[in-house]
Amino acid sequence: MPAALPLRHLICIDDLDRAGLEALLDRADTLLPRALGGSPGGEQPLAGKTVVNLFFEPSTRTRSSFELAARRLGATVLNFDMASSSTRKGETLTDTLFTLEAMGAEIFVIRHASDGVVAQLAAVCAPRSHLVNAGDGRSQHPTQGLLDMLTIRQHKGRDFGALTVAIVGDLRHSRVARSDLRALRLLGAGTIRVAAPEVLLPEPEVTRGCVVCSSIEEAVRGADVVMTLRLQRERMEEGLVSSAESYFRDWGLTPERLALARPDAIVMHPGPMNRGVEIADAVADGPQSVIRQQVSNGVAVRMAVLEALGSG
Ligand code: CP
Repeated sequence: MPAALPLRHLICIDDLDRAGLEALLDRADTLLPRALGGSPGGEQPLAGKTVVNLFFEPSTRTRSSFELAARRLGATVLNFDMASSSTRKGETLTDTLFTLEAMGAEIFVIRHASDGVVAQLAAVCAPRSHLVNAGDGRSQHPTQGLLDMLTIRQHKGRDFGALTVAIVGDLRHSRVARSDLRALRLLGAGTIRVAAPEVLLPEPEVTRGCVVCSSIEEAVRGADVVMTLRLQRERMEEGLVSSAESYFRDWGLTPERLALARPDAIVMHPGPMNRGVEIADAVADGPQSVIRQQVSNGVAVRMAVLEALGSG
């Protein structure tokens, strides 16, 4: 099967139409054995290309999986080390990009704490450069959105219209929720429920078309997919949530609460998890959890995206 589609940049799920998104998921499914290292060799469509991981915020899953994805496709990978870079001497992000472009790099995977940074860089980058948003502020995390849709599709099939999806937790500060909600709407998800303490709900535009629930129980009851989100304290004003204990008591996904969902419901979490805060150990490690599968799918989805960018 060929690369999903030529793609200049991936900044936001809105860069894709439904056919484009589904083509990337199809391609990721095909690439999964190679992504996980079980099928070495194969085509090397990124041979001769350099992928730069430019991460200005911490990451385990996204950065490692982009590196593995790029290497599996034959690219040279440069992991930019922010701590020892000239950004510490005042070099701007734009000049950093121009500097790396001047060395021949052409695919840039960028994570940054500020909303909109990747779109701003896309507006000034060289014509041959391709940018991927690996998470900007609380705005977007499109490859997480794609891997989450792939995971749901693997368990629940292609008819998203039949599904009830519950997203619970800190939606206000979550770029994952913003990308997942756009992707779910694009795929025609039947019912999308969101639930959070009032201070952790996002602006109404983000949850357009969703059922806003006042408790985790209301959100989870009868759901096919239950996703919990981390409390993003790094983006939160001090004191917004009184304590981890009270949050877990009121909003934590426990086995008792999960029992309200459909018996075949899947449990998702984008990671990193705060166990005992938004999710109980018994749920995170339980038979309905697909959290590690999400991570595996991340490598395949990022291969599909890099391949599409490399042919764009
Ligand atoms: N889900 C996610 O973005 O995880 P990392 O912060 O570890 O990349």
